[in-house]
Amino acid sequence: MSTPTLLILPGDGIGPEVMAEVRKVIDWFGTQGMAFEVSEDLVGGAAYDAHGTPLTDATMAKAQEVDAVLLGAVGGPKYDALDFSVKPERGLLRLRKEMDLYANLRPAQCFDALADFSSLKKDVVAGLDIMIVRELTSGVYFGEPRGIIKEGNERVGINTQRYTEGEIDRVARSAFELAMRRNRKLCSMEKANVMESGVLWREVVTEVGKDYPEVELSHMYADAGAMQLTRWPKQFDVIVTDNLFGDLLSDLAAMLTGSLGMLPSASLGAPMANGRPKALYEPVHGSAPDIAGQGKANPIACILSFAMALRYSFDNGDAATKLEQAVEAVLADGLRTADLMGPEGGTPVSTTEMGDAIVAKLGA
Ligand code: IPM
Ligand code: MG
Repeated sequence: MSTPTLLILPGDGIGPEVMAEVRKVIDWFGTQGMAFEVSEDLVGGAAYDAHGTPLTDATMAKAQEVDAVLLGAVGGPKYDALDFSVKPERGLLRLRKEMDLYANLRPAQCFDALADFSSLKKDVVAGLDIMIVRELTSGVYFGEPRGIIKEGNERVGINTQRYTEGEIDRVARSAFELAMRRNRKLCSMEKANVMESGVLWREVVTEVGKDYPEVELSHMYADAGAMQLTRWPKQFDVIVTDNLFGDLLSDLAAMLTGSLGMLPSASLGAPMANGRPKALYEPVHGSAPDIAGQGKANPIACILSFAMALRYSFDNGDAATKLEQAVEAVLADGLRTADLMGPEGGTPVSTTEMGDAIVAKLGA
């Protein structure tokens, strides 16, 4: 089989720093007979600075060809005043849309070593391991009409929530498949009490559920879901929800675990000719421009995103588990980047020291 290909898009802010640590991990796997053909390119503000667009057509074309894309983060205050159409975030949204990455997997997992770090009580979060499946290519993020129009003498801001049955069906199937590989429990969240798109969502998810009789399916209004996530998150295993609710609920779930700097994500589309899904992996955290370039960033979310790539794109769950265990081991040793420095202390390490320690744990 040919060498698997990876496109690395470090992006803005802390993106390049954390991605540099992922490169070390990729190189380590290379020494173990698991080589990747890696290319690197620009996205977000970095691409705008170089080319006047947050994603060039050439980079888009490359992303369509590789086996997996790894992205750091995009955005920063420097680009706040830019026109909406060329904002750094548009680069990321274009990748998601044109690669048709409709299923966004966002795990929220509480590492034992960090259970004290959550803003919630330890027994509420210890051992937490849930997965949010967020629909990523439709809904109010992309629905038409949209824009700011003039109506009489005032302006009106418009966005449209729109879901086809097909769009709901395919993301529901991804979530059920995942539930089958986990604890066979799926909760679907929408606002069927106020939104027609929510009514359809509930109907289609229920229909798809008939193909997965082993999975215990429940439904919740998304606001109640948010409340239940903070009250007793361990009642959930897999959650499936739309693009906007998924954006909110995944940040909420991430914070339950103590640090956004720990959480990876996978965005998956339909299988390509080689059987691998179209895929983009990125940390849940943003570009954190306030700490960029200071060696303070936590590279773990980005490294764990590569672990997800090993699992979901390269069908190598063993390698993924090995990498996840190396991360847990350095945390158990007390190594802490600035974001993980809680009252219980630990050994403060920089971005590069954390990356080096993880590679060292992987083995010589
Ligand atoms: C996310 C981010 C993005 C989103 C932004 C950067 C466009 O918040 O990945 O959750 O809203 O989807
Ligand atoms: Mg978000």
